[in-house]
Amino acid sequence: MDHMQWSEEEEAAARKKVEENSATRVAPEEQVKFESDANKYWDTFYQTHKNKFFKNRNWLLREFPEILPVDQNAKEKVEESSWDQIRSNFSRMQGTEAHCGESCVSSAPGNKGRPNFPNPDLEEHSEGPGKTGRFPGSNATFRILEVGCGAGNSVFPILNTLQNFPGAFLYCCDFAPEAVRLVKSHASYTEARCSAFVHDVCDDGLAYPFPDGVLDAILLVFVLSSIHPGRMQAVVHRLSRLLKPGGMLLFRDHGRYDNAQLRFKKGRCLSENFYVRGDGTRAYFFTKGEVHRMFCEAGLHEKQNLVDHRLQVNRKKQVVMHRVWVQGKFQKPLHWTQRGNE
Ligand SMILES: C[S@@+](CC[C@H](N)C(=O)[O-])C[C@H]1O[C@@H](n2cnc3c(N)ncnc32)[C@H](O)[C@@H]1O
Repeated sequence: MDHMQWSEEEEAAARKKVEENSATRVAPEEQVKFESDANKYWDTFYQTHKNKFFKNRNWLLREFPEILPVDQNAKEKVEESSWDQIRSNFSRMQGTEAHCGESCVSSAPGNKGRPNFPNPDLEEHSEGPGKTGRFPGSNATFRILEVGCGAGNSVFPILNTLQNFPGAFLYCCDFAPEAVRLVKSHASYTEARCSAFVHDVCDDGLAYPFPDGVLDAILLVFVLSSIHPGRMQAVVHRLSRLLKPGGMLLFRDHGRYDNAQLRFKKGRCLSENFYVRGDGTRAYFFTKGEVHRMFCEAGLHEKQNLVDHRLQVNRKKQVVMHRVWVQGKFQKPLHWTQRGNE
């Protein structure tokens, strides 16, 4: 069943499970390594699973049409070609671990009518990184960044569709070198349309391979949840600087009381709603209110923010899981001020 709601009893039962599994916390001295070696745990994850763990995020373009440039002709071409394929992949994913693909949240108005704001940041940085004025994607008219791209499960569906948009360029980064290696070694990876790089978004001192204020869209899909809650706000602030005025930050991640949260055993909780898995990778479970506060605090305007509840059937294991995701779209205004960071 799609878009189901919790009954009061279900919500109370979920709350009780979370109270139980978070009653015992991982000792603070043990937690240190999960933060300092976070990229190593993820790197080992990709060395183990390669690109076989996550399913392709073929639902992305349906949920986030903002990742396509405003180009009506090309848009029509996409609708004719890839859309059907996206749709058939999408229906094949039903009932599988590719949970978020099942969302049928009605899309926002999309890129139609997206304001074409002037870009003061870009002018300020017209010399570009290294003062050469040239950087990967410098000739592009539409630029997207995917943060925490993993093995490319979003990258390749996007690149496939961007073939219809000659002016578009995709950046993608991950702090796990093995993930970036997997992306770069994929047969569909091309430096003419894409630049993958190793980057830790929590490290404020690290430069990006492009200037601030040049991105039309940033994709944060199941990545913020793996970052320490105390560092998330600074990450969102920094990413907001990279957007053009009018640019969109697109977010989808685990929601509070998702089945994945309820399944954690006692002794895996790091702090409220933040857990560590057996492989050392971590997961936070968001409420809609937290998502609202975090992105608005960074000076972005909320265009969408919803909780997506669904029942997911795992036929193999014969279990029904109550999945919860939060999805949001936040736009950088023309007169942007970084509220919390001044
Ligand atoms: C749950 S996976 C999601 C991967 C991909 N976004 C997807 O949806 O398939 C989280 C990803 O975020 C990356 N990640 C976590 N913290 C990061 C950080 N501080 N900087 C860059 N990448 C990070 C991890 O290496 C991992 O690839």
